[in-house]
Amino acid sequence: MTIIDPLTFPPGFVWGAATASYQIEGAVAEDGRTPSIWDTFSHTPGKTKGGDTGDEACDHYHRYREDVALMRDLGLPAYRFSIAWPRVQPGGSGPMNAKGLDFYRRLVDELLEHDIRPWVTLYHWDLPQELEDAGGWPNRDTAARFAEYAALVHGALGDRVRHWTTFNEPWCSSFLGYASGVHAPGRQHAPDAFAAMHHLLLGHGHALEAIRAADAEAELGITLNLYAISPADPAREGDLDAVRRIDGLANRIFLDPVLRGEYPEDVKRDVAGVTDFGFVHDGDLKTISTPLDLLGINYYSRHVVAAPDPDVPAEPYWRAPTSWPGSEDVRFIKRPGVPVTDMDWEVDAPGLTETLVRVAQEYPPVPLYITENGAAYADTPGPDGEIHDAERVAYFDAHFRACLAAIEQGAPLRGYFAWSLLDNFEWAWGYSKRFGVIGVDYATQRRTIKASGHRYRQVIKRNGLAG
Ligand code: FCB
Repeated sequence: MTIIDPLTFPPGFVWGAATASYQIEGAVAEDGRTPSIWDTFSHTPGKTKGGDTGDEACDHYHRYREDVALMRDLGLPAYRFSIAWPRVQPGGSGPMNAKGLDFYRRLVDELLEHDIRPWVTLYHWDLPQELEDAGGWPNRDTAARFAEYAALVHGALGDRVRHWTTFNEPWCSSFLGYASGVHAPGRQHAPDAFAAMHHLLLGHGHALEAIRAADAEAELGITLNLYAISPADPAREGDLDAVRRIDGLANRIFLDPVLRGEYPEDVKRDVAGVTDFGFVHDGDLKTISTPLDLLGINYYSRHVVAAPDPDVPAEPYWRAPTSWPGSEDVRFIKRPGVPVTDMDWEVDAPGLTETLVRVAQEYPPVPLYITENGAAYADTPGPDGEIHDAERVAYFDAHFRACLAAIEQGAPLRGYFAWSLLDNFEWAWGYSKRFGVIGVDYATQRRTIKASGHRYRQVIKRNGLAG
């Protein structure tokens, strides 16, 4: 692919913005929706900041028309959103709920009427509570339930939706959900986290097989959260080994099965004390590595890691009471002077280039999409009522340049989705973190396009940064 101008993206590059059901919809008990693990978790005292829940969120369930109009105003050609499983199949098994499905039908119709392509994520963390009660993701049967749900949703929307991803960030669902417990369902049992990971991937493979059999035109994939990882000191062997281990646990443990049909041997050895991978049955890896039409990558930051040091106790990853199994003694380093976002995540745009080029060079070819990238900043409206989020503008700008650099180095990057369309419920952080290119005043549900949104409109229009 030739780039004519170094600041312009290739023709046909897909621009969009992303959201997730529980983070924006609200209306948690309406039209037959039943609770998900995030309803239960957020209503459990002490689990989310300030006890925040997604009960109302951005009230998108009722305001989706206004939100699509805003997307149109931004000139978005694509919109990535997720389906709330307990809305369309209450309880996670049995027949579909027509009223719940109707919401997504109306949303998709509204998008298409405005020339916005819908990109559907089938699972962005809101597992029906009944399935968690039956064992959740550590239970193999949940993978089968997911594949059935995926086929039903595709059956209902497949005539109007072409782009589908199965899971958003299975790393979070498995390790934050079942090991550290900082995400729903909040369990802390390391072996379960690995079983959950495998069953999420198995569900992905089965869903792909089912949708592919029904629809040869569908573009199918999965979204992984990948990190750039580097050593605190490149001259220290122990630090390099820490890179290998964390790269294994964060990136390769998902990339290898999905793109190569195998789990990395070194990671299996590293975590042998936790799990023997006995949950892998014959044929699973073949299913998990069903060919993809696209790989979604969510990129936010870099991990800088160092070897264990007896004099410096390792702070558990994610500041969780129990840690990320296999990473317990690795030290995650904060580099002095490197700017951080309101999440305390280092801003590291070159890491995005590195991540894209690495996937392109080390794995079989697959079209790549950034399905999330963005930053939280504590922005507040100025005296003029506008939101001048200069730091977010700079963050996006640096990451657009990082995408261009990756394309120049041969990465088959075909699109970019900003996280997020709207400020929203940021999981355990509640409403305290704002990621939107559109601000939301939760007291009034008033939306305000931020400076970053206005800037994004220009970038989309020009298909790049020129001018
Ligand atoms: C990702 C999630 C998304 C959002 C961003 C900030 O891990 O996919 O829902 O919370 O982080």
